[in-house]
Amino acid sequence: MLIKEIDYGTPAPKQPRICGNSNCGCASGVQQEVHADTVMVTLEIDGNNVTVPQGTSIMRAAMQMGTQIPKLCATDSIDAFGSCRLCVVEIEGRRGTPASCTTPVEPGLKVWTQTGKLAKLRRNVMELYISDHPLDCLTCSANGDCELQDMAGAVGLREVRYGFDGANHFDKPKDQSNPYFTFDPTKCIVCSRCVRACEEVQGTFALTIDGRGFASMVSPSEAQPFLESECVSCGACVQACPTATLMENTIIEAGQPEHSVVTTCAYCGVGCSFKAEMRGNEVVRMTPYKDGQANHGHSCVKGRFAWGYATHKDRITKPMIRAKITDPWKEVSWEEAINHAASEFKRIQKTFGRESVGGITSSRCTNEETYLVQKLIRAGFGTNNVDTCARVCHSPTGYGLATTLGTSAGTQDFDSVEEADVILVMGANPTDGHPVFASRMKQRLREGAKLIIIDPRRIDLAKTPHVQADYHLPLRPGTNVAIINALAHVIVTEGLVDEEFVRERCEPEEFNRWRAFVAEPKNSPEVTEAYTGVKAADVRGAARLYASVKNAAIYYGLGVTEHSQGSTTVMGIANLAMATGNVGHNGAGINPLRGQNNVQGACDMGSFPHELPGYRHISTDEVRHQFEAAWGVTLEAEPGLRIPNMLDAAIEGTFKGIYIQGEDIAQSDPNIQHVIAGLSAMECVVVQDIFLNETANYAHVLLPGATFLEKDGTFTNAERRINRVRKAIQPKAGYADWEVTMMLSNALGYPMNYKDPSEIMDEIARLTPTFKNVSYALLEEKGSVQWPCNDKAPDGTPLMHVTGFVRGKGRFMITEFVATDEKVGPRFPLLLTTGRILAHYNVGAQTRRTDNVAWHPEDLLEIHPHDAEDRGIRDGDNVALLSRVGETSLRAKISERMQPGVVYTTFHHVGTGANVVTTDFSDWATNCPEYKVTAVQVRPTNHPSEWQSAYNRQRDETRRIETTTAAE
Ligand code: SF4
Ligand code: SF4
Ligand code: SF4
Ligand code: FES
Repeated sequence: MLIKEIDYGTPAPKQPRICGNSNCGCASGVQQEVHADTVMVTLEIDGNNVTVPQGTSIMRAAMQMGTQIPKLCATDSIDAFGSCRLCVVEIEGRRGTPASCTTPVEPGLKVWTQTGKLAKLRRNVMELYISDHPLDCLTCSANGDCELQDMAGAVGLREVRYGFDGANHFDKPKDQSNPYFTFDPTKCIVCSRCVRACEEVQGTFALTIDGRGFASMVSPSEAQPFLESECVSCGACVQACPTATLMENTIIEAGQPEHSVVTTCAYCGVGCSFKAEMRGNEVVRMTPYKDGQANHGHSCVKGRFAWGYATHKDRITKPMIRAKITDPWKEVSWEEAINHAASEFKRIQKTFGRESVGGITSSRCTNEETYLVQKLIRAGFGTNNVDTCARVCHSPTGYGLATTLGTSAGTQDFDSVEEADVILVMGANPTDGHPVFASRMKQRLREGAKLIIIDPRRIDLAKTPHVQADYHLPLRPGTNVAIINALAHVIVTEGLVDEEFVRERCEPEEFNRWRAFVAEPKNSPEVTEAYTGVKAADVRGAARLYASVKNAAIYYGLGVTEHSQGSTTVMGIANLAMATGNVGHNGAGINPLRGQNNVQGACDMGSFPHELPGYRHISTDEVRHQFEAAWGVTLEAEPGLRIPNMLDAAIEGTFKGIYIQGEDIAQSDPNIQHVIAGLSAMECVVVQDIFLNETANYAHVLLPGATFLEKDGTFTNAERRINRVRKAIQPKAGYADWEVTMMLSNALGYPMNYKDPSEIMDEIARLTPTFKNVSYALLEEKGSVQWPCNDKAPDGTPLMHVTGFVRGKGRFMITEFVATDEKVGPRFPLLLTTGRILAHYNVGAQTRRTDNVAWHPEDLLEIHPHDAEDRGIRDGDNVALLSRVGETSLRAKISERMQPGVVYTTFHHVGTGANVVTTDFSDWATNCPEYKVTAVQVRPTNHPSEWQSAYNRQRDETRRIETTTAAE
């Protein structure tokens, strides 16, 4: 089959990755990769020669030759500390017994790791530890997984001469405030691994060792309970703890796991790898996978702890149908549900035409599932009316980056940030939205990289322990393009352009046009200050900083895309990076931080109505013919309807049926009342989900979904990394989502007969040039690969646009600032912007069904003290939030993070209905909604809004389930 090869430039050589700590006491056994110019050192350990890179610790060198030196305070991923004195060695010609974890190798050293003297010293150390440790090993939750126990065995401890009757810590109370883990200080050996993990890995600095000597003990923040401290519950300390002092509650309750499955977190675009640790068919712990190439063994509270929704009682496990949305649901067999849905779609298409139906793919589902849904819509329904939730988040990224660079994807891998000299974060809140990557970013910032933040709010990253933004540009919502143009103005007018890069890599005419445009006085920081609200001097300083270093990287999020000029801002960002030569090398680039776990994959898989998999336009005959030949159908050449167009068409009466897999547009999309009107106007709404979500309130068929733990497949993260998802438990409803789509397709008369998701991936690879070499076998071998992965880049492409842009020459685009039509005025004088919070994910359907609600039980409206005072609002008051399209109510949180005139809320809780007030305004190019700019008024209230009252009345009514009919 003919597959058009696209030139993605020469793939970057894979960066050699050395374990983060060359002197760590790594127990993982991972060999250090060695740079060509690394100086190697040969020494003798226990009479054997070993050669290791300079700087390696003696402990690690010994480990390389298979000798395990006893240790307690050293562990991989954190710097060696040298406090426990268990790892002592003897070195010929040196006095004393140095700690091997902190002593670097030297040429010609003769080291002895096992001598009578060392054995005695180590036993003494262990004796001291054990004399202040409760000897309840048999009933301890760490029994079988306790390094203290292991070391007692390793050093041959047989007696404890000091007895157990002296001073000890046995009366210290447990801290059980954190819903996920328990702190039992009686078992603490004060190795400070937890403190160092919190500092070095997570970057939160929530723990200290309080007191001195015998009185010293671990303390969260200022001796607060964990839940009330600065701890963000990432679990790094729990993982680092060698004893049962910090222990997951699930392990305390269920016992140690007995097998594990490596899979990928289903929460955000970082795509962390985890070991799902199991007892039988039950997950008992999610442990971040050390070899995970996106997360390198770290995680956040969601991935590590918030997986309990998978077994929540609200899971829908039986298919259901109903004739009208006012009827109760009726549980039926899979066969009946599938046949009913198929016959309804057929009836609708027969009556109202082929284009009267469509579908929405899910960014939470796997690549394979997403691919199948768009295939079903295009080949089974015979229409291109397929869209995805990326419509409402990163569709401007697709448009903006494809236009300027030639393809819709971030340019770097996450590791690249380790070489950034300047990090520019725009419209993103990584510590909440992409926490594991934020920790990497903070590590680099602590090493000295500079930080520029462009955000209306003072996000956490602007000032956290040992990190402070060099520039925070707190712009007015809606003025992104003006700020980008002002930065470009400074770069162009102050001679900061990388002329050589532009000359060699970019279209000259377009560059010259752009240069003249941004140099116009209207784009200067002094002129734009009037409407961006950002001081001109700060814009100038930030522009000089960004343009002055070798490696400057831009990371951006939905604060860039979800605007009426979202695509313009993305193009403006690409202009900035190209003008300063910040594309095609490590430490630089343009990096969209993707929200949902597989939003990159959903876009890659052809979920947009105008694109087939691999971002190829449906109207291109050559491409379409490839798919027609493979799928055995004739495809429509015209793009289909986008989500907002489907809803409009439904209200107009021409669109009647929809298949929605794993999305909840009745909560996530803007102007909910319009969404509901569209859904209510349809005759057949088929929802496939793990819960009865908000959209299901307007559905006629409910097909139970499967969680990520219940299926095989792949997710693609924000760095284009294709990661395996592996089934850990059986699907609660009997089928994985791809199997359900297949059943529906077969019932519609379009046969699909895949036996395994790997066969779907094989088909994707056959039809998609950027996936040509991807297969499950390759993923098994490599762990993961980043597309493009083809003959030119058989191991994938960590870094894009190295020698040339995908489109050939980089294209500068004119980015004229056009103010949004959403204006403040006397009735609606404030601007509302929305976002998310660490504890929750998207519409909260999963995280609200976990103990994460302990951190965020409700959506709050953040408001500046001046705006609150003007309105007589106190912290915690109930307030009405009104816009031109709707009204809701929620509690106020007075916060100096906000600038006067701007309020902020999240959209994780159903009853708040933040999207009741957001409008239909959207990006000019892609229809991505303008969530980030809504003119609102806020005033005290003591009752729910009309919408909330109506919602509360109707919600239970539409969720009734009639269980009398026996289901399959
Ligand atoms: S859970 Fe994470 S943030 Fe909390 S104390 Fe432990 S390492 Fe620090
Ligand atoms: S809590 Fe665990 S990791 Fe922290 S000091 Fe105590 S024993 Fe060490
Ligand atoms: S939510 Fe994101 S950052 Fe957290 S563990 Fe999952 S993939 Fe990693
Ligand atoms: S492991 Fe080296 S001093 Fe603790």
